[in-house]
Amino acid sequence: MGTAELERVREEFLAALRSAGNDPDGVEAVRVRFAGRRSGLLRDLEERLKVLPKEEKPAFGKALNELKRFVGERLDAAQSAAAEAARVAEAFDVTLPGRRPETGSLHPVTLVRREVEEIFLRMGYSVADGPEVEDDWHNFEALNIPPDHPARDTQDTFYLEGGLLLRTHTSPVQVRSMESTKPPIRLIIPGRVYRRDSDLRHSPMFHQVEGLVVDEGITFANLKATLEAFVHVLFDPALAVRFRPSYFPFTEPSAEVDITCIFCRGKGCQVCSQSGWIEILGAGMVDPRVFRACGIDETRYTGFAFGCGLDRVAMLKYGIPDLRLLFSGDERMLRQFPAGVAR
Ligand code: PHE
Repeated sequence: MGTAELERVREEFLAALRSAGNDPDGVEAVRVRFAGRRSGLLRDLEERLKVLPKEEKPAFGKALNELKRFVGERLDAAQSAAAEAARVAEAFDVTLPGRRPETGSLHPVTLVRREVEEIFLRMGYSVADGPEVEDDWHNFEALNIPPDHPARDTQDTFYLEGGLLLRTHTSPVQVRSMESTKPPIRLIIPGRVYRRDSDLRHSPMFHQVEGLVVDEGITFANLKATLEAFVHVLFDPALAVRFRPSYFPFTEPSAEVDITCIFCRGKGCQVCSQSGWIEILGAGMVDPRVFRACGIDETRYTGFAFGCGLDRVAMLKYGIPDLRLLFSGDERMLRQFPAGVAR
């Protein structure tokens, strides 16, 4: 009679253990319920043994001992299985793909600036820079831009207090370089410039890169060859390069440089206003008056200079349709330029 109850407890124990599965808390609850020292079911059965009639004690006692051993073994096994399951669940799974940290990207103008710098560094140039807040002498006067020249018009220039202004081009760095170094000079000067201009194609701040070469015997042929090589490396060796006569106060003769429209290949499209050409550079031979203003012997030296809009190059190279996208800080645009596109 008594041993039948033990059998029932045993069934109950196994059912409870099954439903606890590998949950450590569940296994612990089963332990407390059956093998708990104070009020576990096995303890109750021990109490029962004490009050059994003498003749029933041996059989019940033997069966109870067996049940206690059985419960103990099963609990041990269940506890270590639960512990092992928890260990596996916490373990580092080396086959999972890692979480990628967000990486920044380089601005398209930065990419283009670095590319231009690299092309000219390979041709033996150095990179220089100068202040964005300039004085009248460096931005205008020394560059042969007289006081009544339209380039000085307040429409174009941001004037600051104390006769200072925001440079309207990178050409003042030509002057600073010639004032401070002796020829031969071979410089590339990237930087921000400012003009009071704001519409679809103009931003009050934009980027230029200036080039300056001064040495004995420099000719327009050197200018042409250099700029052709530059444009071919930057864009495409198959492009035609065209020099159009033009005017800048600080170069004589002066030219504007066009390339075959890279979108229509010269057939004529919206980007090139149906002309088949895209203007890319202003250039010319350094005017002797500029040499004189900078203290360079104009009877001994000649030189050439050029200026190029970096934003425009970035737009052409990456097919960016609107200048304002470059300065909007819109991440959807910027994310398209991973750090590795160019260096
Ligand atoms: N400084 C001129 C501009 O901003 C560009 C230029 C530079 C032209 C050097 C000739 C020589 O338009």
